[in-house]
Amino acid sequence: MVMLPSRHISAPAYAKVNLHLWVGPRRDDGYHTIASIFQLIDLADTVSLTLHPSPDLAIRCNPLQGVDPEHNTLVAAARLFCGQTGRVGTVDIQCEKRIPLQAGLGGGSSDAATVLRLLNEACGNPLDQKALLDLGARVGSDVPFFLGTSAVAYVRGRGELLEPLQAREDLYALVVMPVDKGVSTSRAFADLDALREQGQGIPQTPDGTSLAARYAEKVSKWDFFNNFRPVMGELAPLYDQLDALVAQTVGCFGTVSGSGASYCIVAESQRTIGIIKTKIERISHYVCLYCIKCLHRGHSGDTVSL
Ligand code: C5P
Repeated sequence: MVMLPSRHISAPAYAKVNLHLWVGPRRDDGYHTIASIFQLIDLADTVSLTLHPSPDLAIRCNPLQGVDPEHNTLVAAARLFCGQTGRVGTVDIQCEKRIPLQAGLGGGSSDAATVLRLLNEACGNPLDQKALLDLGARVGSDVPFFLGTSAVAYVRGRGELLEPLQAREDLYALVVMPVDKGVSTSRAFADLDALREQGQGIPQTPDGTSLAARYAEKVSKWDFFNNFRPVMGELAPLYDQLDALVAQTVGCFGTVSGSGASYCIVAESQRTIGIIKTKIERISHYVCLYCIKCLHRGHSGDTVSL
């Protein structure tokens, strides 16, 4: 056993959007194969860790509204890290939440990845990148992306196979989040399976090379899609309205992110995002709007040691 150092460290945990999300067949292990483009966005929780050496392991986290303490990804990540590396001591986690829950924005996964990264750095990097990615995949399918060093990646497998893409720096985004309407990821996958069992075939997806080439083109040419779109249930009328708004507006692209419940609009022009935001405010008061100055470039060098 090795004791944790005495340290207080903090870092932002950025959210993501899925610009493209193809869901393949259900695998024998219950997970689904995906082919997706993940893009970090400038919306982040703040994760802070206070570490103290002690002969026993104790992991605590501040209560997070809407998060079942038994399924807190931050605690799960810290427990796995300490178990894997034989670290003991106290880990006090403080998470300031800004990323909405069950939004398809990866908040819980990004928080977990940030805990793993911070603990690894504080302990002098006992785990190499491969071991960290493996550990992340045990916490959740989306965690490996948040441990990667690229702001944009083509993601395959159940989420653990990453191919970094050249991140564009000319994009603005508006994330539309229906108020109090989270979507459970496992429920969304089950609904999609049920729909497919009724005879809806599984569509094809362009390969990684084609998706990467499309990402580099103007957003008005993007033909990315999200296979969860037909199982959005009571959110479908709102998303139909948003799809129509996007179709009427030159120079933008819109999609549901992840398994919902958020919808992301991307444009090269900040003015276009402003116009769409005004239009959305006219059609619905039941949404939170996050205007994102730019899509986030990357997360290396963000850690702050206090
Ligand atoms: O891996 P994670 O815990 O985030 O996944 C939550 C649930 O989403 C899984 O239990 C599974 O039902 C579903 N899932 C899936 N295929 C994936 C990722 C998640 O079926 N690639």
